[in-house]
Amino acid sequence: MAAFTDAVEEVRRRIDIVDLVSQDVALRKSGRNLKGLCPFHSEKTPSFHVNPERQIWKCFGCGAGGDIFSYVQKRDNMTFSEALEWLARKAGVSIERTGRAGRAQSEKEKILRINAVACEFFQEMLLRSEKARAYLAERGIGESAVGKYKLGYAPDSWDALTEYLSRKQISLSDAAKAGLVIARGGSEGYYDRFRDRLIFPIFDTSERVVGFGGRTLGGDSAKYINSPESLVFAKNKTLYGLNFARRAIVEQDRVIVVEGYMDAIAAQEAGFENTVATMGTALTEDHVNILARFSRNAILAFDADSAGMAAALRSSSFFERAGFNVRILVMPKGEDPDSLLRRGDRSRFASMVEKALPVIDYKVKLALAGHDLRTDEGKTAALRSAAAVLAEVESAVERERLIKYLAKYHPNFSTGTTRAEDDIRSEVELLRRRLSRTGEASRVREDSSQQRAAKPNLLERLEKIVLGTIIAEKVEAGKVFEVLPAKDFTGESTRQLAEALYSQFVELGKIKPESLTTQLAGTPAGDLLTDLTIGFDESELNHPFEEVVRAIEREKKKLRHARMRALARKFQEGVIKKGDEEFEEYWRLVRELKGIGVDNSARDSESDG
Ligand code: UTP
Ligand code: MN
Repeated sequence: MAAFTDAVEEVRRRIDIVDLVSQDVALRKSGRNLKGLCPFHSEKTPSFHVNPERQIWKCFGCGAGGDIFSYVQKRDNMTFSEALEWLARKAGVSIERTGRAGRAQSEKEKILRINAVACEFFQEMLLRSEKARAYLAERGIGESAVGKYKLGYAPDSWDALTEYLSRKQISLSDAAKAGLVIARGGSEGYYDRFRDRLIFPIFDTSERVVGFGGRTLGGDSAKYINSPESLVFAKNKTLYGLNFARRAIVEQDRVIVVEGYMDAIAAQEAGFENTVATMGTALTEDHVNILARFSRNAILAFDADSAGMAAALRSSSFFERAGFNVRILVMPKGEDPDSLLRRGDRSRFASMVEKALPVIDYKVKLALAGHDLRTDEGKTAALRSAAAVLAEVESAVERERLIKYLAKYHPNFSTGTTRAEDDIRSEVELLRRRLSRTGEASRVREDSSQQRAAKPNLLERLEKIVLGTIIAEKVEAGKVFEVLPAKDFTGESTRQLAEALYSQFVELGKIKPESLTTQLAGTPAGDLLTDLTIGFDESELNHPFEEVVRAIEREKKKLRHARMRALARKFQEGVIKKGDEEFEEYWRLVRELKGIGVDNSARDSESDG
């Protein structure tokens, strides 16, 4: 146990929270803290704070907070021991695992290990397959990319991997949970899921293999198949290539989103390192929230087919709702980023990225594209669809810009620009009036559903100030607990934290809030600890603690008086009677507060004087 605690402390000593968080979040200095956009919820103004002195983080938007361990846990959806292991590896600290805990790997760890073994197998098979290597060469993927992306090959066989895993004493039912092998219906045994396919391992942001994609090299009708969902692989939360792209996305403050594995690799290899792929599935809100940790600027480079264009529009609304600035790259017909870049058209792709259209312009372009602009009827119909797009634009300046752009499609454009613009403008205004009528109704509903914040409890607030004062080391913990024992704190979180601080003080003769952060992670006391460390208003901590303790005593007395009056009322109303517990409580309060009767409890009573 001691060795374990030492390891935790050693990891904490070696890893700086600012370095760790900076991999995901662009941080700016703000007083004693650093500030950035919270990686765990979507927001437009930074409320995510990191305190380098105390090595903790806290988001005042969503309330999450903690230390390096809880940060990695939350970011990568890990347990504490997984986060510790990951950070320890990063820090070069070895952790000795003993006994049952060491052997009993979690289900997740098991799947990850099997994935890692399979990944090596596929890599090895690629070296042996002339055909697969020829295919890669033909698609312009060189040695270094093969290594970087750990590309592999699944042989044209029903049991190559199954056999290999058996030889390695790996449970096939676990391998089935990882989605690598499939149980045979009816008869015994398992067979390989991926056969005669080029393999793309899918990594999470901690560089672990969570799943695989496989492109057929034979005649199979499914071009790609992917690992099924598992404990470690959720398609709607995974973006291919993010592990490589994350740094570049933060640095350039921009992410390029493509559809396919090959597109992501081609783009990253061509120097557009800030590229991730959605793996064919529709982009989800989860994907967008993950990307929001890194940047709020996205460029969608989807295929130029109708599915790709529809996907771009659907995704763009998720992005916009999360406060992104989104632009859509207009891809030439029949191309995708991979096909363009393979031809060596790096600069062409770069200029397409720069010229990517704001969503609204893209929508206008699509609205026009559906019509024959050579005829007057076609032009009129095109303008009507475009006007519907413009009606949704909130900014009048933006609307004017687009109206000017559209004027040239007006049937009467040649007779006068102003006339054409006026026509379009009045059409747009008409549509907007209709929209605003339906809009107001929904706003009213929103307002009424808003909840009022709970009234803060003064006593708990005072207890927090005392604890904040201890943590800021403005007063010695021992002095406080002498007059205000930890067990007498009244709030759930304040009492827990007070007790934790007290036992630490007894043990070490001083307090060490950093270590408590890990111990209390995920509890109300843990949340309170980060709150008090990062978020507390400095001025509150300058009250002499004796004064705060006196205020606490006054407040407690006031509450006891109120309780006594409430019980007296209950007694008069006949709700409680002699012999009831509450009756006893009433008399106890009377004795304490009014100094009636001289028994044991008089010792504790603070007379009003
Ligand atoms: P595409 O059909 O656009 O393929 O699918 P691609 O990426 O251009 O593939 P290449 O260039 O022919 O090799 C885009 C992505 O959609 C997913 C894959 O992630 C693919 O990269 N997909 C596609 C599937 O999951 N299953 C499929 O059958 C097809
Ligand atoms: Mn392609």
